[in-house]
Amino acid sequence: MMTRRQASSGILASAALAAGASTVTVAQELKPLDLPPPRGEGGERLTAALKLRRSTREYSDRPLPVQVLSDLLWAAFGINRPSGDRTAPYWRHVMVMDIYVAMADGVWLYEPKAHTLLPHLKDDIRAQTGLQDFVATAPLNLVYVAHGERMTDISSEERRLYASVDTGFIGQNVYLFCASEGLGSVFRAALDGANLARVLRLPAQQFVTFAQTVGYPRG
Ligand SMILES: Cc1cc2nc3c(=O)[nH]c(=O)nc-3n(C[C@H](O)[C@H](O)[C@H](O)COP(=O)(O)O)c2cc1C
Repeated sequence: MMTRRQASSGILASAALAAGASTVTVAQELKPLDLPPPRGEGGERLTAALKLRRSTREYSDRPLPVQVLSDLLWAAFGINRPSGDRTAPYWRHVMVMDIYVAMADGVWLYEPKAHTLLPHLKDDIRAQTGLQDFVATAPLNLVYVAHGERMTDISSEERRLYASVDTGFIGQNVYLFCASEGLGSVFRAALDGANLARVLRLPAQQFVTFAQTVGYPRG
């Protein structure tokens, strides 16, 4: 039987393109993960997904197919119009939120314009994305990061507030996508944001808002 790491590696290897420029130097061996175009269709109808939406805290170790990962990230905060705007609304039309994708083989940064995953860290940081045990073994944890430096003329409390609201809309997109595709998910505040920012090597003004686990429900 394949281990989780082997299974995950298989997905990544099959989808990886030639190495491009890394976002951080420690990611030299981690390859960009080129996502297939999002399907933008399929799954349950919205009302059916709303009926199914719930939080899941027990996950199988079954990895996500790369097409599902692509569709998930597009649903989360992908570009849905020629203007470059997104599937979720965002504060003052200022693009503040990044989504980091933590899997067994490393961490990638979702880049919506090219709809690709940029290599960030070649470490398995899943256990550090939250304070609950399942985060360490679930195949995917999304970490939502805000660029505080882009939110000018407002107080730090307002920065947290608007970044949290931006994140909440993305999180609900993820919940509904997961419900429509037979995936489990849970949006999470129970995390050590300062430690996670350090592990992710975020610049001083960027901060973690929330995280969200995704995977196939166990059982
Ligand atoms: C802001 C916010 C923070 C949350 N943080 C956590 C968390 O850290 N851990 C967790 O297991 N669930 C967390 N949840 C999920 C809630 O516990 C869950 O949505 C609620 O109990 C209702 O259950 P349901 O999502 O299954 O309807 C959070 C939800 C929200 C909106």
